Amino acid sequence: MRKMILAPSILASDFLHLEKDLQMIEESKADWLHVDIMDGVFVPNISFGPDITKSMKKACSKFMDVHLMIEKPERYIDDFVDAGADMITVHLEACNHLHRVIQQIHQAGAKAGVSLNPHSNLQLVEDVLEDLDMVLIMSVNPGFGGQKFIYQSIPKIKALKKRLMERNLDALIEVDGGIGLHNAEAVLDAGADVLVAGSSILKSENPLQTIERFKEIGERGSWV
Ligand code: DX5
Ligand code: ZN
Repeated sequence: MRKMILAPSILASDFLHLEKDLQMIEESKADWLHVDIMDGVFVPNISFGPDITKSMKKACSKFMDVHLMIEKPERYIDDFVDAGADMITVHLEACNHLHRVIQQIHQAGAKAGVSLNPHSNLQLVEDVLEDLDMVLIMSVNPGFGGQKFIYQSIPKIKALKKRLMERNLDALIEVDGGIGLHNAEAVLDAGADVLVAGSSILKSENPLQTIERFKEIGERGSWV
């Protein structure tokens, strides 16, 4: 039986109250903590680096899912593993030697994911699929929270799911960007295992309750 993994994105936090939001996630039914790292080069926005990430791990012990939206991520993999990352996801568009980067992540002791921007074809991960713990399908152009879900992501998730099944591989499918209670079921039905949700949780009136609603959707879907 498949089980939905819910990964709130801390990018949507009011950083002045970061600790409060991390504690809320820690005490909630959420499964992972999604941490977005942006370098102002690969994406137009800048977020935070390994030091803040390390402090976050002290306030929230959940599985730390680090999404590196940075050029040449191989320069920072060891730093983020030291900071407490359990999964490191790099963008295939940011790596000249993707196969080597995946090996580097595993050697550093973390699980390895590869992310595809909305314009990137699934064919581009075909030759590394068996080395991966997770494939991240971006359902917005990376860089900012609060954007609108791109619906062409749905057939892409379905195609990836089909391909993983054909090849008998068990990499997780994560989907990130514009996910809320209104489209969670459609994303799960398409084949997603991990839902990232930033603003729909942290900007909601009652984040704990929103997390519970997501979990209810995860438990009742026909996809289970
Ligand atoms: C976007 C980030 C996302 C972001 C999602 O570049 O990778 O993880 O935090 O935010 P929402 O859920 O608000 O689209
Ligand atoms: Zn992300």
